[in-house]
Amino acid sequence: MKVLVIGGGGREHALARKFMQSDQVDQVYCAPGNPGMASDGIKLVPLAVDQVDELLAWAQATEIDWTFVGPELPLFLGIVDRFRAAGQKIFGPSQAAARLESSKKFAKEILVENGIPTAHYQVFTDFPTAQAYIQAASFPLVIKADGPAAGKGVVIAQDLASAEAALADILEDKRYGSQSQVVVEECLTGPEFSFFSLVHDGQVLHLPTAQDHKRAYDQDRGPNTGGMGAYAPVPFVSEALYQEVVRTIVDPLLQAMEAAGHPYSGVLYTGLMLTAEGPKVIEFNTRFGDPETQILMPLLGDDFAETIDQLLEGQPAQLTLNETGPSLGVVLAAEGYPTPYAKGMDLTPLVQACPSEISLIYAGVGEKSGHLTAQGGRILMAVAQGRDLTQAAERVYALLDQHPIPQTFYRHDIGGQAITQPKEEKIS
Ligand code: AMP
Ligand code: GLY
Repeated sequence: MKVLVIGGGGREHALARKFMQSDQVDQVYCAPGNPGMASDGIKLVPLAVDQVDELLAWAQATEIDWTFVGPELPLFLGIVDRFRAAGQKIFGPSQAAARLESSKKFAKEILVENGIPTAHYQVFTDFPTAQAYIQAASFPLVIKADGPAAGKGVVIAQDLASAEAALADILEDKRYGSQSQVVVEECLTGPEFSFFSLVHDGQVLHLPTAQDHKRAYDQDRGPNTGGMGAYAPVPFVSEALYQEVVRTIVDPLLQAMEAAGHPYSGVLYTGLMLTAEGPKVIEFNTRFGDPETQILMPLLGDDFAETIDQLLEGQPAQLTLNETGPSLGVVLAAEGYPTPYAKGMDLTPLVQACPSEISLIYAGVGEKSGHLTAQGGRILMAVAQGRDLTQAAERVYALLDQHPIPQTFYRHDIGGQAITQPKEEKIS
């Protein structure tokens, strides 16, 4: 098989590397990929993720068996509809189904209409109506920007003044675009976890749960980032809770999407909070998480590419799980990230020191005179498995602590409470 992965970050490196492990796969291509992938034999295709026409033409000319979409942008641009219309196999949701991620309003409506647990919410398009609503509401409140170009704008407002400022930002100053509307939500409390499901043509396979750490600095301080580390599976998710998520959230959502005329295909990423009333949906994403993918792939068998192939072919599909222990990864970021950051640092000392039990998954890297250099905010992720999360963390931190790269930083508490308060319960 010849496989194309679309994207160029750590998530795509982890996916492409996993697909390369299959006996059935002859070659994995990644568009655009990054120079860190070359050592795994992944071939780079110099096309950007939004060059949908060019990607399709390239996939046809290269006789790719199927394409796996990493990031959200090409999904929002309708890449899946385009590939399918041309008879090319592709794993991902249609543009209409990808609204589960691209429109918070669409996601909220389908949840509430189908009685799927989530925070109570209201949608507003003008400032005075929204202001009148929050003046009568109790705090904290969650304010989310929504709309075609809204991107990620979430504010947890503790009082009226900060809620009004967030509303004005979105509805008056149009910070997220002129079409923006606002979703005002009840603030839920409880630990968060992520649930990933592979869906195609009536088949659904669920992965182990994961948790990422979004804040830049230790103890969840500092600005929000794309994710500074992650681990899987999540110890507080018991088998019973895992099954409850499937039964009360994922299955009804997939049925609702089908009934609405938008059958779901691809990776469904459900962001959950375990509240006192049980698990509730915080958000959906219509793709794998980054950096969760980097720590989930080592938990899967070498035949993951066959699983995707079976799903796309409509054959009975199975997901093999490794029994090699939980997985944990720490992101090495450039000084300054998530604001403007340092670039050009030589990564060779870390690359050369990396022992076989640790994988370096590359994201923001470049190449200079045959050496990998730092080029992005999130540079790479060091990933290890262990007999437990504590051992996995010890392995990763031994490497990062002993081989520091100037002008970089990483969090020292990935795994956090899962490591300090381990539980015995295991999930599938
Ligand atoms: P989102 O962009 O919807 O994923 O939100 C980003 C983060 O904001 C989530 O990971 C949560 O930590 C937090 N968040 C979003 N919605 C809520 C809510 N209703 N209650 C509490 N926290 C929330
Ligand atoms: N790790 C969060 C995300 O991929 O959206």
